[in-house]
Amino acid sequence: MKQVLGLIASPRQLGNCEIMVKEISRQLAIPHRLQLLRLTDFRLRYCNGCYRCLSRGGCVLGDDLPVILEAIAAADALILAAPTYFLGAHACLKVFVDRGLSFYAMAERLWGKPAVGIGVAGIEGKEGCTLLDLERFFLTLQADNRMTRVLYAALPGEVVLSEANRQAAAELAAALFGEPALRRQPRCPLCGGTTIRFLDDGRVRCMLCSNTGTLVAGPVGPTLEIARGRHEFITDQNAALQHQEWLKGMLTRYRERREPLKEIKSGYQDETPWVKPSGAQEEGA
Ligand SMILES: Cc1cc2nc3c(=O)[nH]c(=O)nc-3n(C[C@H](O)[C@H](O)[C@H](O)COP(=O)(O)O)c2cc1C
Repeated sequence: MKQVLGLIASPRQLGNCEIMVKEISRQLAIPHRLQLLRLTDFRLRYCNGCYRCLSRGGCVLGDDLPVILEAIAAADALILAAPTYFLGAHACLKVFVDRGLSFYAMAERLWGKPAVGIGVAGIEGKEGCTLLDLERFFLTLQADNRMTRVLYAALPGEVVLSEANRQAAAELAAALFGEPALRRQPRCPLCGGTTIRFLDDGRVRCMLCSNTGTLVAGPVGPTLEIARGRHEFITDQNAALQHQEWLKGMLTRYRERREPLKEIKSGYQDETPWVKPSGAQEEGA
């Protein structure tokens, strides 16, 4: 029996994201056990960029990250659902993804899982970068992103009222363990990303893998021609592992250059006042 983990990136109980994950599970043809994990229930601290997870083998923040990673590692497949908040996916998704350097330590167990994702936005067309946020989540986890969709529904429960959304649930369910879904064009040929930025020189950059290329007219609409860059960062598992090695090299470089860098930093150490959080002000009072 397959173990499917539903990752809910909405704080709303029985909101559209939770309902959609359950609906996809109901429409999954193969026997499976669904387990749910609401990201906002967990104590997840911000990554503080100390890089100790790379040099000492584990994150030092001491929060619930290992529980979440273990649940993902134990699952055979993932269904992710996130609401749009102010033109992007709910912030808990980014807080989790920012801890991505810790994923390397469990790469063999975490990476390569089939996954589908839904973003739910309240107003048609007002999802902003939600789809990109879902794609980034899967790429950072090196999951096998089989389909991501944005659906529209505002009030909790409304998501299953629309026939289009119920149809999307069926397609997402079929894609999770079935044949890879027909991919919409244009998309980045390297990473599958669907969001581009227009650059000053007429070229475009894929906002998921950061590689550049051109948008060319094809027989059935525009297609993207994107070439691999010199420093691949995340496009596939090999690139991700090479990036990890590069980061370790940067750590060595930092240790070698610690003294001159310290001198630069000390030139900026001054008495400029800082606005402090309320707790800190009370402590200092
Ligand atoms: C703080 C906040 C910001 C929101 N921002 C957007 C937005 O930028 N665009 C949009 O279409 N919907 C926006 N919404 C609506 C939600 O995306 C929508 O209600 C969604 O169904 C919530 O999913 P949930 O019930 O699973 O939490 C926002 C909702 C909240 C609470």
